[in-house]
Amino acid sequence: MTKYRSVALGCGSYLPEKVLTNDDLAKMVDTSDEWIRARTGIKRRHIAADHELTSDLALKAAREALGAAGLKGGDLDLIVMATSTPDQTFPATATVVQAALGMTGGFAFDLQAVCSGFVYAMAVADNFIKAGQVRRALVIGAETFSRILDWQDRSTCVLFGDGAGAVVLEAAEDTGSPDQPGIFSTHLHSDGRYHDCLYVDGGPGSTKTVGHLRMKGREVFKHAINNLAAVVEEALEANGMTADDIDWVVPHQANKRILDGTARKFSIPAEKVIITVEEHANTSAASIPLALSAAIKDGRIRKGDVLLMEAMGGGFTWGAVLMRW
Ligand code: ACO
Repeated sequence: MTKYRSVALGCGSYLPEKVLTNDDLAKMVDTSDEWIRARTGIKRRHIAADHELTSDLALKAAREALGAAGLKGGDLDLIVMATSTPDQTFPATATVVQAALGMTGGFAFDLQAVCSGFVYAMAVADNFIKAGQVRRALVIGAETFSRILDWQDRSTCVLFGDGAGAVVLEAAEDTGSPDQPGIFSTHLHSDGRYHDCLYVDGGPGSTKTVGHLRMKGREVFKHAINNLAAVVEEALEANGMTADDIDWVVPHQANKRILDGTARKFSIPAEKVIITVEEHANTSAASIPLALSAAIKDGRIRKGDVLLMEAMGGGFTWGAVLMRW
């Protein structure tokens, strides 16, 4: 039986035009540029315009990714879209993107794993490809977290931003060689005992409202570093690799201190970690493909590089993707 590997053909991203700086935030809540930078590394974030929906951001990133892959919407069999800020409760925002891309076959759905969403979506797409059920998949992470923030709560509103990123994957016959580009393995975890550490205090089935993001920051911080270090170890071990085999870590961009702490724990030099959190803040499921896209555009990530993506988010959920670009 043919074995398949998911090979990345292209990546794209989109950030809304409006930029909100830490100084802008200091005019809205009792905070300062100094506090935000020292605790998180964040300097600014992008915020969607009133008329811009998550699907609009996703579509722009998707078009760029398809352009980089030399494909059209009609060439896709699957869209998996990671988002916690869908346009509507249903139908899936992925179907809005599907229609706008002119993709009339195949199937499209949303997936919700908060900040781990992109890693989860890559794992799902990879498994459909490996099973031989899908030839080409578009994996999107897109968020408008500005819509679910409590703009009076300084402990959360300074941390997040809006944006979208996307990657096109295609099935190739797996030669079994570690030199072949594509996804080597994916690793997913969740532990629902911590669901009240990072959550939204509303929902269609409970309050019938959208709700606002709430977080126990210290708890999240503590678990993030331990869980991320463990899943990175797991991904390396599964492939008989060490930290030296990784060209680039493309992590979820929550907070510079979490990024530094995790890299230290598994002895990856800071120069190998792609960091965009200063410019984008935490864009949840969009943050990994946004960072990936930035590093491809500036020439750091090249074809053939070994990438490690890792993320942790509400649930708690966490996971990793190890691949050769
Ligand atoms: N500006 C100024 N002061 C603030 C702000 C702010 N924006 N926010 C909180 N403070 C104050 C608090 O009120 C508190 O004051 P007090 O001592 O007078 O009570 C003080 O700063 C310290 O508050 P802590 O919450 O203990 O601050 P901490 O050092 O833990 O830093 C932070 C907070 C940055 C949120 C940290 O806990 C963290 O990084 N947690 C991880 C959370 C995260 O990144 N979540 C993203 C989603 S999950 C994910 O993506 C992995």
